[in-house]
Amino acid sequence: MLTKKYTCVKVDQRKDGITFVIFNRPEKRNAMSPTFHIEMMDVLNELEIDPDTKVVVLTGAGTAYSAGQDLKEYFREGDKNPSVRAAASAASRWRSDKLWLYSKPTIAMVNGYCIGGAFTHCICSDFAVAANEAIFSLSEVNWGILPGGMVSKMVSDTLSARNAMFYACTGRTFNGKKAAEIGLVNYAVPLKSLKKEVVKLARELMEKNPNVLRGTKHAIRATQNMDWMAAGDYLAAKGAEIKQRDAARNHDAYSEGIRQFIDEKAYKPVFSPYHGAASGKPPAKLPSTRKKKAAAASAVTRSTSSGPARSSSGGKKV
Ligand code: COA
Repeated sequence: MLTKKYTCVKVDQRKDGITFVIFNRPEKRNAMSPTFHIEMMDVLNELEIDPDTKVVVLTGAGTAYSAGQDLKEYFREGDKNPSVRAAASAASRWRSDKLWLYSKPTIAMVNGYCIGGAFTHCICSDFAVAANEAIFSLSEVNWGILPGGMVSKMVSDTLSARNAMFYACTGRTFNGKKAAEIGLVNYAVPLKSLKKEVVKLARELMEKNPNVLRGTKHAIRATQNMDWMAAGDYLAAKGAEIKQRDAARNHDAYSEGIRQFIDEKAYKPVFSPYHGAASGKPPAKLPSTRKKKAAAASAVTRSTSSGPARSSSGGKKV
């Protein structure tokens, strides 16, 4: 449990393992100041090793998710004070490198304005869910810079070439629905159900084996820029790492997942994770889909043998 207090960030840790990290400068539309970046890096470092946090959700207080870099404190004042700027710039990598390879699943819950530099942490979170009403804009072109940091790169990696060029060069605003349509977020929902939908997604992720989930998200990230040979080697090594991490908690996802499906008929991988995937402790008594199937089959037999014959012949013997 995180006990530190911050000035620009609020941390709301729920008992179920979902931790909300709330950008908390609503009066400045959650613009990112140097202090904000330093605090965010610290919060993410702490939560990455916090046993009570299984999924991290990033969101904003008030009407904004984040209005991007703080034009006054990060840019103008930072230009006058290179050491402050250097510290802020290093800490601002919470949005890119840190999130990109974070050990736990992260979800950007885009509740309102998502502007300029805020695209970085929207894109680098593993998942993003927006309110239909959220407003996105690459506003840089309107106030005099190109989308810097890593924004241009992230946007051109994530959107189609046409959309990246269009939104970067016009600065035009678009809403959450459009963000989903162009692949900037996974989906958009009405603001009033945004939190409920995000919690639903977080819970789904928390049912998985966390080591398998970690390896999978790293694999999707890392192989993007690899050739076939390198990707093959990376994935083999990553698979071995999952086994090693699971062994540290006396577990083996791979063998257990196969056993519960093939031998025990206890679940179907297409519809759910195996039992005990999250904790690494499968229950001693597993439910059986085979029994359910057998029961369903015998119920059909009972109803057709003991009751009146129901057939297309109207019950008459043919
Ligand atoms: N940097 C610094 N301050 C910012 C800011 C930013 N990125 N975004 C908003 N603020 C400040 C405003 O200056 C204002 O401060 P004040 O109360 O001291 O005057 C306060 O936050 C509220 O902003 P306001 O413009 O009055 O709110 P709004 O709800 O009417 O509009 C926006 C919200 C986001 C549309 C508008 O603030 C805006 O265009 N911000 C610039 C965002 C931007 O271009 N960011 C790119 C950075 S890379």
